[in-house]
Amino acid sequence: MNTNLSGRTALVCGSSQGIGLASAIALTQLGCRVTLFARDPDRLAQAKNALAEVDDAHHDTASADFHQPESVLGAASAAMERAGGAFDILVNNTGGPPGGPIAEADGQAFLKGMTSHLVNNQNLARLVLPGMKANAFGRIVNITSTSVKCPIPGLGVSNTVRAAVTAWAKTLAGEVAADGITVNSVLPGFTDTARLASLFDAKATRQGVGADQVRDDAIASIPMGRLGTAEEVAAAVAFYCTPAAGYITGTVLAVDGGRTPAF
Ligand SMILES: NC(=O)c1ccc[n+]([C@@H]2O[C@H](COP(=O)([O-])OP(=O)(O)OC[C@H]3O[C@@H](n4cnc5c(N)ncnc54)[C@H](OP(=O)(O)O)[C@@H]3O)[C@@H](O)[C@H]2O)c1
Repeated sequence: MNTNLSGRTALVCGSSQGIGLASAIALTQLGCRVTLFARDPDRLAQAKNALAEVDDAHHDTASADFHQPESVLGAASAAMERAGGAFDILVNNTGGPPGGPIAEADGQAFLKGMTSHLVNNQNLARLVLPGMKANAFGRIVNITSTSVKCPIPGLGVSNTVRAAVTAWAKTLAGEVAADGITVNSVLPGFTDTARLASLFDAKATRQGVGADQVRDDAIASIPMGRLGTAEEVAAAVAFYCTPAAGYITGTVLAVDGGRTPAF
């Protein structure tokens, strides 16, 4: 099975920690040269050191706030020039929208979520697609959520934004398939990261219980009886990027310990 990504370049968004960083490390392990993209320059520098421990292949960093799409596009364009004028792989990822009942979310919350996810995905895809087409190879992987199979109560804005991203990805997949470019999404279940800890804390505050109680309840809902790790989600991201996955496009893959009650 060909999982070799030597000579390939990747732009991995939301990659200073959590699932994004684990994905960047997994791609590095397969030989890829990675540009890490997030906001915090100090965390990005630490993340770059983590990549260098795997393979010191001139990895790069780029910094922008995904709530500001023009800054994102500007930083990504500059990084693409530094990477040689093209990215072979784009991993779309950023912080998830805040939780809370959908009936209490205002219009701004939806605009913010759509901007930081859907609009950046579209802008970044348009940036990288010409180079991918020229090389007859491209991989776009979106990190979304199992809510695209079964909406998660209390994550109304996120459920809505993830569904939009899934429809976007499926449409794009059909348009670029003949150019050797695949577009797929990975759906993390409960994955042990800073994002999950903050969601558990917020839910505990809303319900007036301890965060440990919320965590235990979450684990009780997972057939495998444990949270997932960022590395387990990253393995699915990296697989989609390999030559071996070249005939898989327009799909979603849940990495959730069996939790989602849907096929
Ligand atoms: N963990 C889970 O259980 C789970 C489950 C389902 C879906 N997800 C989704 O999967 C994605 C990754 O989750 P995670 O758990 O890895 O989250 P995380 O640990 O909080 O990491 C988020 C990453 O995105 C970056 N980021 C956040 N806001 C940003 C912004 N405005 N602009 C640019 N970069 C930003 C962060 O770096 P900076 O702060 O330095 O910018 C960080 O590198 C999220 O969309 C999350 O909602 C997670």
